[in-house]
Amino acid sequence: MRTGIDGLGLAVPSLCIDLETLAKARGVAPAKYLDGLGTWRMGIAPVDEDTVTLAARAGNMALESTGTREDEIGLLIVGTETAVDHSKPVASFVQGLLGIGRNCRVFETKHACYGGTAGLMMALDWIRSGSARGKKALVVCSDIARYGLKTAGEPTQGAGAVALVVSENPRLVELDPSQSGQYAIDVHDFWRPLYSKDAHVDGHYSVQCYLDALSGAYRHFQQLVPGVRASDCAALAYHVPYGKMARKAHRQVRAMDGDENPDASFDVQVGASLVLPAQVGNIYTGSLYLALASLLATSVKNLDGQQLGLFSYGSGSCAEYFVGTVVPGAQERVHALGLQAMLDRRRVLSFDEYEQVMKAREELDVRPIEQAVADDFRFLGVDAHRRTYVSPEA
Ligand SMILES: CC(C)(COP(=O)(O)OP(=O)(O)OC[C@H]1O[C@@H](n2cnc3c(N)ncnc32)[C@H](O)[C@@H]1OP(=O)(O)O)[C@@H](O)C(=O)NCCC(=O)NCCS
Repeated sequence: MRTGIDGLGLAVPSLCIDLETLAKARGVAPAKYLDGLGTWRMGIAPVDEDTVTLAARAGNMALESTGTREDEIGLLIVGTETAVDHSKPVASFVQGLLGIGRNCRVFETKHACYGGTAGLMMALDWIRSGSARGKKALVVCSDIARYGLKTAGEPTQGAGAVALVVSENPRLVELDPSQSGQYAIDVHDFWRPLYSKDAHVDGHYSVQCYLDALSGAYRHFQQLVPGVRASDCAALAYHVPYGKMARKAHRQVRAMDGDENPDASFDVQVGASLVLPAQVGNIYTGSLYLALASLLATSVKNLDGQQLGLFSYGSGSCAEYFVGTVVPGAQERVHALGLQAMLDRRRVLSFDEYEQVMKAREELDVRPIEQAVADDFRFLGVDAHRRTYVSPEA
């Protein structure tokens, strides 16, 4: 049975800030953020956009771009580490906003930035086991990455969602979940206590944990699938909290393959996967899939039938290295989504506006209901402890 990603949707917030602006305001050399971290713009969500609205927009785009009807979805999973409720899953809000049918398994997965990959693997197994009975899965990765003002993590924030339609006979990337290596270990590199809006991170330790997990997952993959080397893949997409992390990851994987000059292959194997992430910042669960979308949208190489290596990492931690095969025509399909044009439509904030939005977002959980033009999926506010949303009018 051929299974994999049939189509995707992307949602980014309507606002963003240039990291050069942030660097100057914080008294940091802009080159540290632009070259040292490898990110030049990051998404900022206004108060009427949150994890739910981003997930709904991405999900809607994935359904429309694949011509999938709402009642064809038998499994709806939202992977997130920035949920809006301790009990009610983001997936239920998304089900309601998108009108997904009622005979459907609907839930949320959490494991830091790995939660979306957990959902994807589960969806592939669900289809391959026969339980899907011809239905498709919608797996949405949605997050708002927030580290707090004036912290070392501030330039590695971002927001966005990537939705994947997972099915038989996929039209983008074929995936076999048995071709995958995992690595998990209990570490405290990044966490967000229940009482905190901002993430806590041991930044440099988190980089080391990511690299250790990459080694562990890739070694496991090599044991399970001997002879399939990352160095032989046409392209590689890594989890991208910031672009430089992908470079560190690439050096490590190529070194494990015995390559003494890993940087020589970086532009060819990884460059295209970083074009979109460098303009969005960290989107946590969706990060690897934004890198994949970027690769398919911007690579100048013909990837038809070519093998890709994919690496997902979630702090805490769990990691997975797996391979996929690009289905002929996938690049044209993703190109037609107009992802770069979507990023270009965002409004670029001044530094003062950025600080105002970040401050306003602290009050979101008690935001009174406001009327809004129903031109998009929007968060209206909270009434009697219930979050309220609106869908775009048909
Ligand atoms: C990533 C993070 C640890 C960086 O923290 P920091 O201490 O402020 O930054 P560093 O001093 O390490 O500098 C970052 C990079 O910029 C480089 N740099 C610094 N100043 C520079 C300049 N003026 N010009 C060019 N590069 C510069 C540094 O050499 C470093 O590159 P390297 O990693 O290749 O050595 C921090 O942003 C963070 O905690 N982020 C959140 C956690 C995260 O994203 N973890 C990733 C794994 S999940």
